[in-house]
Amino acid sequence: MCGIVGYIGNREAYPILMKGLQRLEYRGYDSAGVAMINAAGAMNVFKKKGKVSDLADFAKGQDITGNIGIGHTRWATHGEPNDVNSHPHYSQSGDLVMIHNGIIENYAAIKEGLTKRGHTFQSQTDTEVLIHLIEDIKKSENMKTGHAVLVALNQIIGAYALVVLDKNDPNTLIAAKKGSPMVIGIGEDEFFIASDASPIVEYTKNVVYLNDEQVAIIRRGEEVKLRTIKDKEIPLYVQELEMELEAIEKGGYEHFMLKEIYEQPRSVKDSMRGRLNAEKGIVQLGGIVDHIAKFKNAKRIIIIACGTSWHAGLVAEYLFEEYARIPVEVEYASEFRYRNPIIYPDDIVIAISQSGETADTLAAIELAKSKGATIIGVCNVVGSSIPRASHAGSYTHAGPEIGVASTKAFTAQVVVLTLMALQVAKEKGTMAESKFRQLLYELESIPTKIEDVLKQNDLIKHIADIYKNAENALYLGRGFTFPVALEGALKLKEISYIHAEGYPAAEMKHGPIALIDEAMPVFVIATKGPNYEKVVSNIQEVKARKGKIIAVVTSGDKDVKGMADHVIEIPETDESLVPLIAVVPLQLLSYHVAVMRGCNVDQPRNLAKSVTVE
Ligand code: AGP
Ligand code: GLU
Repeated sequence: MCGIVGYIGNREAYPILMKGLQRLEYRGYDSAGVAMINAAGAMNVFKKKGKVSDLADFAKGQDITGNIGIGHTRWATHGEPNDVNSHPHYSQSGDLVMIHNGIIENYAAIKEGLTKRGHTFQSQTDTEVLIHLIEDIKKSENMKTGHAVLVALNQIIGAYALVVLDKNDPNTLIAAKKGSPMVIGIGEDEFFIASDASPIVEYTKNVVYLNDEQVAIIRRGEEVKLRTIKDKEIPLYVQELEMELEAIEKGGYEHFMLKEIYEQPRSVKDSMRGRLNAEKGIVQLGGIVDHIAKFKNAKRIIIIACGTSWHAGLVAEYLFEEYARIPVEVEYASEFRYRNPIIYPDDIVIAISQSGETADTLAAIELAKSKGATIIGVCNVVGSSIPRASHAGSYTHAGPEIGVASTKAFTAQVVVLTLMALQVAKEKGTMAESKFRQLLYELESIPTKIEDVLKQNDLIKHIADIYKNAENALYLGRGFTFPVALEGALKLKEISYIHAEGYPAAEMKHGPIALIDEAMPVFVIATKGPNYEKVVSNIQEVKARKGKIIAVVTSGDKDVKGMADHVIEIPETDESLVPLIAVVPLQLLSYHVAVMRGCNVDQPRNLAKSVTVE
C-alpha cells in the first residue's frame, strides 16, 4: 500500500508533493511525510502521524522550500503508525532518505547484519533497513548512490516502489519498482514520480510505467535512464496518459464514493461502449477475441479475486454457467495461492481487480501461469500490473475510482463479465438467439434503470436514518442476487463499521436465524424471478421472529410490500442482470449510514484502496 510522489524541476516541490499526496491518500492514510532539499543544500524532512492535512499543519512556518523532493502517505505494515515510523526514512549518516511502498521480507536478517556493523535504527520499519543497506553498500564499495541501489535490490526479497533522495546530489532522484506500481511523468525540464498517474495528470500526459526490477535515474536536465537491477540498460517507452483531471476530482459531490455511485449510469455505458450492439446482435470484447477458441474448449473457468471483485466473480460464476454452460470455480486469491490448487493447462483463469495491483491476485496469477493456464485479466486501472501479467483481458473502463469502498468498479466488472459470458455463449451456441438478443437490449437499458434507482435517494436516506444505529445487519439474496447480498454487507461494514453478514436467503435457517430479533435489520433482495416465492417465504421466516425487513423489490411488487417494513423498488430486468441494478440502493444506503454515523466514507479506518501487500 502507500502512496509515493517525487518531483524534480524548476518549481517549488512542496505544493506539488502535497497535492499529489492528497490525491494518493486513498492508498494509505495513517501517516505522511515529505523531504525537500533547499537552495542551500539542506535536506528538510517533515513527517507526521495522521492525514496529509496533519502533515500540512505541522510543516506550516518551517522551511519547505526546494525544487526537488519526495513524499509518502503510509499504510503501515511494519511498526505502528507514528511520527518516527512515517516515511521518509534516513540512512545511518542521514544523507540519504527514502520513501517505500511494499514489504522487505528479509529485513530482519539484513537488520541483524547491519546492527553488527554498527548501524542503529530509529524506527520499526522494514523500509529503514533498506536505506541503511543502500548506504552501507555505497560506502563500503565506494559506489554512486544509484549503483548502490541496484546492488541492494539484488539482496532483498519482497516488494517495493521506492524513491531515494541524496542530500549530496540535489539534482537526482532514484526510483525503483518491483510488485508495487510506479509511474514517471515527463514534463518540460521537470519530472514527476507517483504510485499512480493522478498526481501527474495535471502537469503532463507523457508517462513511463516502470516494470518490475527496474531502476530509474532521474536527473535534472537529462533524459531519464532506465536499467534493470542486473544493470542492463532499458530503452525508455513513453506513453500518453488517457486520464482527465476532472475524473479524479470530486466535482461538487461531498465524497468520492457518492460521486462514483452517481457516475454509474455513465460508467456502465462506458464499459459497454464499442462492445455491444443490440440492434445488430453483436457482443465483442476485443481483448478476448484471440482466445475465444480456448474459452470454447475450456472444461473449467477459475475466477480469482479479492473483496468486491470477488463478489463480481461470484456473479460471473452464475453468468458463465447459465449462459455458456462452463463450470466455474470462484476463489479468494489469497487462499488459492497457498493451497497447491489443481490447475490444468486448458483452464481459463479470470483475474478480476479494480486496481490491477492487488498482491494476492497477482501472486495467484503467477501460480496459475506457471501451471500453463490462460490468464484473462478484468481490471479497471489501465497499465496496472495485473493486465500486464495476463495473457489477455478487458478493461472495465469505469474511470478512476478513488473512494476506498468500491462501487462503480463493481458494476463495470459485472458488465464486462456479462459481455464475456455472452460472447462465449454465442460462440459455443449455448444460448437461443432470441434470448441472446433480448439480453443485449436489456443490457443497453441498464444505465437508464440505474438512473431510476438513483432518483430514490431520498427514500434510501430516510431508511438509512432509521437503521443508522443498528449494531448488526443481515443481507439476504438467492441465485444471482446472493453475491449482491454479500456486496451489500461488505459496503456497510467497511464504511460504517456496523457488523453485517451476507447470506444465501435459504441458508439463514441453518444458523443466522438465531440472530434475528426486533433490533435486527434484514435487507432482502426479493426481485421477481424463479426464486421469488422462495425468498418471500424467507421473509416470512424473518418476520415471524420480529426482524425488520428492508426489501429491494421489482417495481410494482405488491406481495412483499405487504410484509416488509420498507421497500425499495427497482426497475424490472432479466434475472441475470439484476445485480447491476440491485446493488445500487445498497451502496447508497451504506453511504448514508456512514455519513450519519460520522465515519470517514472515502477513507475508512484500517483500509486502503489497493492492497499491494499480502
Ligand atoms: C471493496 O470495497 C474493498 N475495499 C476491497 O474489498 C477491494 O474490492 C479488494 O481489496 C480488491 O481490490 P481490487 O479490486 O483492486 O483487486
Ligand atoms: N513496509 C513499509 C512500512 O510499513 C511500507 C508499507 C506499505 O507499503 O504499505 O512502513
